[in-house]
Amino acid sequence: MSLVELTKDNEIAIITVNNPPVNALSPGVPEGISECIDNVCKDPSVKAAIIIGSGSTFVAGADIKEFGKITSGKTQRGIAFLPMLIRIEDCSKPVIMAIHGTAFGGGLELAMAGHYRIASPSAQVGQPEVKLGIIPGAAGTQRLPRLAGVAKGVELCADGNPIKAAEALKLGIIDRIIEGDLLKGALAFAREVAGKPTRKTRERNEKLGTPEQNAPIFAAARENARKKQRGLMAPLAAIDAVEAATKLPTFEEGCEAERKLFTECLFSDQSKAMIHVFFGEREVAKIPDVPKGTATIPVNSAAVVGAGTMGGGIAMAFANAGIPVLLKETDQAALDKGLATIQKNYANSVKRGRFTQQFMDERLKLIQPTLSYDDFGSVDMVIEAVFEGMALKKEVFGQLDRVCKPGSILASNTSTLNIDEIASATKRPAAVIGTHFFSPANVMRLLEIVRGKASSKEVIATCMQLSKKIGKIGVLVGNCRGFVGNRMFGPYRREAQFLVEEGASVEAVDKALYDYGMAMGPMATGDLAGLDVGWRIRKEFRHTEKPGVRQPLAEDRLCELGRYGQKTGAGWYKYDSERRAIPDPEVAQMVKKWGTEAGIPQRQISKEEIVDRCIYALVNEGARILEEGYALRSVDIDIIYLNGYGFPGHRGGPMWYADTVGLKKVYERICEFHKQHGELWEPAPLLKRLAEEGKGFADFNKDQGAAA
Ligand code: 3HC
Ligand code: NAI
Repeated sequence: MSLVELTKDNEIAIITVNNPPVNALSPGVPEGISECIDNVCKDPSVKAAIIIGSGSTFVAGADIKEFGKITSGKTQRGIAFLPMLIRIEDCSKPVIMAIHGTAFGGGLELAMAGHYRIASPSAQVGQPEVKLGIIPGAAGTQRLPRLAGVAKGVELCADGNPIKAAEALKLGIIDRIIEGDLLKGALAFAREVAGKPTRKTRERNEKLGTPEQNAPIFAAARENARKKQRGLMAPLAAIDAVEAATKLPTFEEGCEAERKLFTECLFSDQSKAMIHVFFGEREVAKIPDVPKGTATIPVNSAAVVGAGTMGGGIAMAFANAGIPVLLKETDQAALDKGLATIQKNYANSVKRGRFTQQFMDERLKLIQPTLSYDDFGSVDMVIEAVFEGMALKKEVFGQLDRVCKPGSILASNTSTLNIDEIASATKRPAAVIGTHFFSPANVMRLLEIVRGKASSKEVIATCMQLSKKIGKIGVLVGNCRGFVGNRMFGPYRREAQFLVEEGASVEAVDKALYDYGMAMGPMATGDLAGLDVGWRIRKEFRHTEKPGVRQPLAEDRLCELGRYGQKTGAGWYKYDSERRAIPDPEVAQMVKKWGTEAGIPQRQISKEEIVDRCIYALVNEGARILEEGYALRSVDIDIIYLNGYGFPGHRGGPMWYADTVGLKKVYERICEFHKQHGELWEPAPLLKRLAEEGKGFADFNKDQGAAA
């Protein structure tokens, strides 16, 4: 079948887009549609035409792969859909868009150029371009407010979230919902409207409002975008483009304003980063030696050991995906406490309108509390989430080995311990794997899947697949201390503390990184997670520290004073009863004193240095991890940081950011830090090599044959 095919059902033409997997508007598709429309116009026997997608969806948008070719100059072909859309709209015979699956981006823009839109009940429509750092580029910002009104038009273009068919119907974006066979319904609809005069969306100005009505809508949209999509240029550009639809005298001028804004966004670093993230999120699922089609184990039931902070959240994640889960504790009091927290979390979600009461009740029924291993024999997978301690973990795994059926997966949520050593407590190390969830486990999207040396391919493939099922993004990592995310987070937080000990204020360090785009500053993050966690680990590993190598000192002293962070009402900051952080002059004074006593020169530190020290600490460690093979590709590290550590999406992740800055520049800056601060800043060999060869981390992936 060709990309676009024209067939006929008596007097109705059927134009089918056939570009799997998502019918993107790749080169050839717009041309094919235009040609078919020309034939429809010319053929006197045709009275109306239907445009429909083959396979699982209508058109899901422009071909995102083409954007990189445009910005790198590999193709001169721009996003030239507008002439095709005008051709459709100018057709004197009704053109009906029959939507199933997703009409996203260019797909919705195509649909809006039709004279009618009908949809399956499960269809979704949206302009998600802002999630790629761009704005609709084929008149979406001009036609959508004409169909849905200015308020909804601006919301859909600036937030980028899709809506379901029922809402689209209410808004006037679609004209009818078709139950049952879509093509059959489309044919009947086409016969109803054949011969009737057509109406061009671009001429429907009645919903465009007046300047007085629109001004507050745009002001609120801008305020919302600045708050919720901090630092992003595309949402503001999308608002400007919709505003142009309401202010400029003609549709064509509106399209021209949209084109300019679209091009600015497309060529921005933000868009390149966000497109990298789009493909990266799909790339991480690809594991070279665990190919698609590797056998998986059906996970229809699970068990969690430990109902503490993590175990409770993990049980919720399984229940939310409809998987029944046993939740085991050591005593009734701990079990009751764990269940009460789960109940409270669900109740909060119901209060906030995220879940219905019925959903909560159904999910709670799926969580079966227990104090014994009695029912563990039947479950397909167990996730251990007991206290962090090797002896205890080994005891639990030994027990699991005895009670679980052959074939069930034994996973540990450990954040620091060696998976192979844990696996050695069983007679089935191939069934053992790390599933490192992030707190709160029912909310955070990241799941580091830690491959032990014996973990079987079947077990890996199952965990990768399962991650999607429970709403997570699974990234396969190797078994090293801290795995990928926490191993890099160590140097990042170390530098943040050093900067404070050298004279930067706690607030200045947090603000610099917040302004860079991090969800939270590193000092506030420490307070949230609990400063005592790192303190305990440092105490345990003190014997491994090299004499003469600088170690953070202030955080340990704060802990000695009982300042563990939010949980004790004070850490780097003071906290009020609502857990709002308040800068604490006492901390500033103490840290200055401790720094001076330790002989650390106190100085003014620029915002730029704060960002470089912290972010390049991530990059340097990331480069080591990559070279040592604990991450498959640099994009895997990026996806971990974006989904587990609040790294800003528009920077593309730490490794992408370093490539954007240029590794030569990053390397030189790290060399400066090395000279000033000593061996902790020794440049990673891979970084040095790539910088000298004028390459980036992305080139390393390609050289390794692991790139997209
Ligand atoms: N262009 C190119 N490739 C695309 C694509 C697109 N628009 N959408 C999806 N793909 C690819 C994916 O990369 C993936 O490839 P892979 O199998 O090699 O990894 C494959 O199609 C399947 O995608 P998913 O794994 O995401 O499949 P799902 O079934 O989970 O989701 C979807 C389908 C909801 C359509 C989802 O892919 C999606 O949201 N796609 C992006 C939609 C989008 O952003 N559209 C706007 C594009 S920009 C635009 O239109 C600009 C215009 O205004 C000019
Ligand atoms: P927690 O202290 O909140 O909960 C541990 C629970 O395990 C306690 O309720 C305890 O009663 C229970 N338990 C101990 N032995 C048990 C046994 N034999 N059988 C059943 N239950 C038992 O600890 P948390 O924070 O939930 O951590 C659990 C694991 O998750 C640790 O390995 C930790 O390193 C890891 N982790 C923690 C994260 C966090 O942010 N808290 C993040 C990622 C991983």
